[in-house]
Amino acid sequence: MVIAIDGPAASGKGTLARRLARRFGLAHLDTGLLYRATVARLLHDGGDPTKEALAVAAASRLEIADLEAPELRDEEITRWASVVAAQRAVRLALLDFQRDFAMLPPGGAGGAVLDGRDIGTVVLPDADIKLFVTASAEVRAERRFRELRDRGVGSIRSLVLHEIRERDERDRHREVAPLKRAEDAFLLDTTDMSASVAFDAACQLIISRPVKTA
Ligand code: DC
Repeated sequence: MVIAIDGPAASGKGTLARRLARRFGLAHLDTGLLYRATVARLLHDGGDPTKEALAVAAASRLEIADLEAPELRDEEITRWASVVAAQRAVRLALLDFQRDFAMLPPGGAGGAVLDGRDIGTVVLPDADIKLFVTASAEVRAERRFRELRDRGVGSIRSLVLHEIRERDERDRHREVAPLKRAEDAFLLDTTDMSASVAFDAACQLIISRPVKTA
């Protein structure tokens, strides 16, 4: 079983993807980490992330272990990740990594959950089930604000909201693989849902989905 989950920043798609993977015994790939790890590798080698050829070379050399580096959530990497993610050749270089993960999940898992921005539209258009997870910008900003506070990172609510809106704008309006709901994706608006309610709703959709015939 292959599950594709897309949605904007702080929509809760990562938490949902992790929980679904555990519940159904699937491998999980947070594809945002691929863009983040590409930047980390580039910066480590002293490269300029705006140079597409360098970014492609870094993307092509990525390995699963690179996705575990603790600095991938740092602010500088977060900022550069959206720049690198807008480069067509970088996205192309990361396609096989994502498709291989879905088709041959590590650890002998019986399938995979991938979450990102273009999984249901570009990376895995034939996924068994597609979810588009969203929530109002205000609610997403509040969740991100609390998450930062719990991690001991000082932040200002209004700035977090501003940053979320800016990222939405970039992700939705970029030329290559913009964030959008696939026509056959279920919409899960979590604005008024807790993570547990969203998880239960997603499980119901998965369990009751019509089985695809070859
Ligand atoms: O989900 P995230 O914040 O970790 O993603 C980091 C960046 O990568 C963000 O700018 C969106 C982009 N991204 C993307 O373009 N396509 C994906 N499938 C996943 C993330």
